[in-house]
Amino acid sequence: MTEDILSAVEVRLNKGGVAVLEDVSFSLVAGHIHAIIGPNGAGKTSLLRLIGLLDRLDQGQVIFGGRAVSPDCPDSLAVRRQMAMIHQSPMMFNSSVYHNVSIGLKFRRTPRAEMDRKVNRAFDFVSLSGFGPRAARTLSGGEAQRVALARAIAVEPLVLLADEPTANLDPRNTLVIEDLIRRLNRERQVSVVMVTHDLGQAERLAHEVTFIAHGRVVETGSTDQVMNFPRHDLTRTFLNRGLVL
Ligand SMILES: Nc1ncnc2c1ncn2[C@@H]1O[C@H](COP(=O)(O)OP(=O)(O)OP(=O)(O)O)[C@@H](O)[C@H]1O
Ligand SMILES: [Mg+2]
Repeated sequence: MTEDILSAVEVRLNKGGVAVLEDVSFSLVAGHIHAIIGPNGAGKTSLLRLIGLLDRLDQGQVIFGGRAVSPDCPDSLAVRRQMAMIHQSPMMFNSSVYHNVSIGLKFRRTPRAEMDRKVNRAFDFVSLSGFGPRAARTLSGGEAQRVALARAIAVEPLVLLADEPTANLDPRNTLVIEDLIRRLNRERQVSVVMVTHDLGQAERLAHEVTFIAHGRVVETGSTDQVMNFPRHDLTRTFLNRGLVL
């Protein structure tokens, strides 16, 4: 039996007076990687922020671990702390790599020895042992994304929310990040929602795929079904030419 760890139910989100998400339902199976694909402006980042409890919805529900949650619920901080997010352009504080990786643990007031242990474990995982004292702003794009991933996993989240984490990387670094996300999922049972423009990446990594266009879910299902046997013309058009106007 599969169990959803995180879902959105018939969500509507307005921004600047217009609906950027409309009647969107989405669910992440515990232990799976779920890719969100779709054209620019479709609402992918908006959906990711919404399920990450970073934005308030206008209608519908976000469910985490079987319970309705929101940025305003009493334990929203505790829920948010079970999720970690990474972005297309990794955000680096102007300090050491160690400080950048430890930041989430510092917010959680993790004791020093435990923090050191978790940061070093995260460094090992992304193969950046020894990078701690380096200035974070001097890293290459690929290294910075690995540091961002180390920061995300240092807090041992249940769910990783990744917004086009390889969009600025070359193929070699893309494969490194993909491999890390795959291992995080397989070895540490982290469930992953991943926005990607790279259809090959969705096919390589994801168990499920959701295709969003114009703020609506066009199609959702197993990766094989959506990518190889799309049911909707819009999905076929997007998969064939990557163009949905
Ligand atoms: N603060 C805002 N006010 C008005 N409209 C907004 C605001 N923020 C986002 N939008 C609009 O919401 C829509 C969805 O944006 P979103 O960033 O979620 O798209 P996306 O699918 O992530 O696109 P991309 O592939 O370019 O990252 C866009 O049309 C965007 O212009
Ligand atoms: Mg986006």
